[in-house]
Amino acid sequence: MFRKICYSAIVLFAVACSAGKEAATTSSSSTISEQEVNLAKTKYPTATAASLANGKAIYTTRCAQCHKLPNPESMSRDRWDKIYAKMTPKAKFSPEENQLVMEYINGVVLK
Ligand code: HEC
Repeated sequence: MFRKICYSAIVLFAVACSAGKEAATTSSSSTISEQEVNLAKTKYPTATAASLANGKAIYTTRCAQCHKLPNPESMSRDRWDKIYAKMTPKAKFSPEENQLVMEYINGVVLK
């Protein structure tokens, strides 16, 4: 009896882990279209689908930790820039993370 419980716990754990991994890879790679990459490249020549997806993933997880994810398009450019500067220390972005998020926001979201 005890063995059986242990075994099902292990199976459940394994299923939960693989399901989580699957969701993470699909959401980060398939959400940036080729058109968006080309658009971002006009401002950031080194941007790729992977780097933009990375920026998006950082933005959508880290900027939604304390409140719901803000929509940069809902405010003026000036206001967004001020708020972003105020919020990056709260989100504790490294310089690399900040660069990836800037490329995603400025290259894809705010065009
Ligand atoms: C550690 C918690 C925390 C994180 C992480 C965080 N915020 Fe905030 N955010 C707050 C708090 C608290 C407020 C409300 C008080 C204020 O304006 O300082 C706020 C307010 C805001 C507002 C509304 C401000 C206004 O004046 O209308 C926006 C927009 C915003 N955050 C965007 C962001 C963005 C973008 C990121 C990611 C770079 C981010 N936040 C990350 C805590 C956080």
